[in-house]
Amino acid sequence: MTRLAIDGGEPLRTQPFPSWPQWDGAERSAVLGVLESGQWWSLRGHQVRDLEAEFAAYQDAHYAVAVTNGSAALEVCLRAAGIDWGDEVITSPYTFIATASACLLVGAIPLFTDILPDTWNMDPSQIEALISPRTKAIMPVHIGGEPVDMDAVMAIARKHNLLVIEDACQAHGAVYKGTKVGAIGDMGCFSFQASKNITGGEGGMIVSNSEEWADRCWSVHNVGRQRGKAWYHHPVVASNYRMTEWPAAVLRVQLKRIEEQTEQRAASAKYLTQVLQQVPGLQPTTLPADTTRSANHLFRFWYQPAAFDGKPASEFIRAMNAEGIPVTPGYPEPLGATEAIMNRIAVMCRKLGLAVPEQPDCPVAREVGVNGLWLHQSVMLGSREDMDQIAAAAFKIQQAWGSAAN
Ligand SMILES: Cc1ncc(COP(=O)(O)O)c(C=O)c1O
Repeated sequence: MTRLAIDGGEPLRTQPFPSWPQWDGAERSAVLGVLESGQWWSLRGHQVRDLEAEFAAYQDAHYAVAVTNGSAALEVCLRAAGIDWGDEVITSPYTFIATASACLLVGAIPLFTDILPDTWNMDPSQIEALISPRTKAIMPVHIGGEPVDMDAVMAIARKHNLLVIEDACQAHGAVYKGTKVGAIGDMGCFSFQASKNITGGEGGMIVSNSEEWADRCWSVHNVGRQRGKAWYHHPVVASNYRMTEWPAAVLRVQLKRIEEQTEQRAASAKYLTQVLQQVPGLQPTTLPADTTRSANHLFRFWYQPAAFDGKPASEFIRAMNAEGIPVTPGYPEPLGATEAIMNRIAVMCRKLGLAVPEQPDCPVAREVGVNGLWLHQSVMLGSREDMDQIAAAAFKIQQAWGSAAN
């Protein structure tokens, strides 16, 4: 049997996977263009304004407001919606912490449904049980770029008169039943942080089909000003979340490549799913029928230790990395078990004189935290051969450890 790289054998692969970010002379000219224009501020230049129009059109939305990052986008939407002290927001426990911290930063309490084992997205069937008189919004997270079952979420939201703020921070170009995500709900948020499928280093965007929500977000992101009114007229108390011209210029170039790259990621993910699920003990997440296209920000798969001689996922990750495959762990625990989040909820409830709401147990999110693994989006920009090597490395490890158990 071939010796594993982790045991001193030859690694299956030594060449790197595609790196990220990717750029060429177009980004260089865009940045120089901003520099030499002398207009580095969004209120004087045109890059942010043009990016807003182009990104809104790309995401099938009528309006967009560019902000400093995805965390700020979530916070601005919540503030624009008037979500305030003691209000409740129902969201997913399996997401980047910013989804929940945005709620807490405006004084609202996040409540978490569990996730579905096949997509790792929030389970809409658990939303209604969490609705209380204080619930104001649902915040579905399109995890890894995989659209949430938005029909189910929207039906519950309309029935209970709740807002829907999509956390689409990982879902640029993702399509649900023929429509891009973001403005399916009332407002949606995107991140352009360094790892994202298009990036300006940092950056964020809010999209909406409602002029009223877009105007309110514009006001909150611009220190409470009102469009078209006097510069020092601030009817709302808010902060400065404005994007600068630099990332906007770079993002406009990246936006020209996103469609081709999203198609390539989707094709790679489809092929990798086919080959990886042939390895005993590995199961990629599945694409529901209503997903027209996942953004494949994260290729996600289950690891079953039993098929690998009981070895923990951390050992498998080490072995894959030694073979030259950049598998990573995902979010380690449900947000309902994250100390900082739960402590903050407790402090807020104490100060507001509220009982701490009971959070449901999230066994699937807990299990994904232990045995759910990721490959990042730039890996999906690799070739067929690259995908074959990922599966071959996994198979090599499974054969070595699986047979050790026999
Ligand atoms: C699901 C999700 N929500 C929110 C954010 C926050 O975005 P940012 O890092 O741009 O603040 C991220 C980004 O990492 C994310 O992945």
